[in-house]
Amino acid sequence: MLCRAGQKPARACEKKKVTIVPKFAGNEQIMQINLTENNPMGDPAIIEKLQGFFALQQQYGAAIKEVRTKLEVLDDEFRVKFDHNPIHHMEYRLKSPHSMVEKLRRRGLPVTIPSIRENLHDVAGVRVICNYIDDIYRIADLLVKQDDITLLCTKDYIANPKPNGYRSLHLVIEIPIFLSEQRLLMPVEVQIRTIAMDFWASLEHQLKYKAATQVPDDVREELYQCAIAIADIDERMQNICRKLRGQCEGEKDSTSPAT
Ligand code: GTP
Ligand code: MG
Repeated sequence: MLCRAGQKPARACEKKKVTIVPKFAGNEQIMQINLTENNPMGDPAIIEKLQGFFALQQQYGAAIKEVRTKLEVLDDEFRVKFDHNPIHHMEYRLKSPHSMVEKLRRRGLPVTIPSIRENLHDVAGVRVICNYIDDIYRIADLLVKQDDITLLCTKDYIANPKPNGYRSLHLVIEIPIFLSEQRLLMPVEVQIRTIAMDFWASLEHQLKYKAATQVPDDVREELYQCAIAIADIDERMQNICRKLRGQCEGEKDSTSPAT
């Protein structure tokens, strides 16, 4: 029986076993606390840790909202000013507790809340899917030059694709969130890519997960060739877009009143 954090305890929660699912987690089950007869309130240390974890999730969630709003504002402005939406759509996620623990352990780092804050820059993730390659760099520039944002790291896998063919622009930015008693700077990983790059990355990710063992060499090569073909299409679509826009701008110029 589930008892969601933030909700009044349901009757079933009065039983001794309580499963708490933080609101933003998006995965099935985070932690189980066994409340014993002797200690009906649970271990205060565990409760404190859980509260710390919920607060952490709330803060990363707030940072995601801030970044999404900034991107939506830019996209809206482009629609009004230039009759063009650079952003096709956005996705966002909070890293699951399981992935956080796995990443910290893999790196030999302490599995604590301060360690998450200090060492993980991808707890909050926003993926921005653009129409064209030009849109990716335009959106990235406009975002990082906002004066409340600090760029912590850029990985340009479009200029330098990964050996498997993966392409995307990755930024880690720092953005302030304003809480009742404090202003916190939160890191957010922003992945920006075209629809075509996203198509490839999503399928490649699924295939990697589905493969019971290592992906065979011939499949890896096939995937790489698909990435090359997709990159070519992206470039051609970009050129078509530039030509059409040039034409539109030319038409506008020729009809604009002489001064
Ligand atoms: P992580 O430990 O995965 O966070 O890697 P990292 O810290 O070295 O960062 P990097 O920028 O290389 O990758 C971060 C994220 O980009 C991943 O979690 C994926 O979402 C995405 N990504 C990176 N490489 C690939 C790839 O080869 N294929 C796919 N499908 N996604 C990738
Ligand atoms: Mg990651």
